Amino acid sequence: MGATRGVVNVAVIHGPNLRLLGRREPEVYGTDTLDDVNGLLAELAAELGVELETFQSNHEGELLDFVEDAATRVSGFLINPGAFTHTSIALLDALLGVDRPFVEVHLSNTAGRERFRRRSFLSGAAAGVVYGFGVQSYLLGLRGLVARLGEG
Ligand code: DQA
Repeated sequence: MGATRGVVNVAVIHGPNLRLLGRREPEVYGTDTLDDVNGLLAELAAELGVELETFQSNHEGELLDFVEDAATRVSGFLINPGAFTHTSIALLDALLGVDRPFVEVHLSNTAGRERFRRRSFLSGAAAGVVYGFGVQSYLLGLRGLVARLGEG
């Protein structure tokens, strides 16, 4: 009898200001709303056979609490940390602390923008990073994360 695989659960985390997507600097971040992004992720998750939950907060502490809590039920994280990418050692520590693979994504090409966006506290610990492809960054990131979890 073959081994049975459990359902893979993934949490998607959207950091600060990402609830403004669609009207926030559309020339940089595109016109898709956060609901659109989550809808596309849900479609892909169904195709890949994974369970997704999504969370957005503008508050660093809430993100830390969510990471800690969600880690009890998910195998990995897909995260767009927004501006906390460039500032938050605490978010890095939370992700390291729960010992789950995570993929960092950004809509914009952070390497081609202001200097302060070039530093990420999270990238070095990430399973992978995808940036610059708009909504596709999330979808590519989810594919990469699920592949990584499948190797597991
Ligand atoms: C972002 C890039 C960050 O520098 C910025 O602070 C964001 C969005 C992106 O998805 O391109 O809030 O993470």
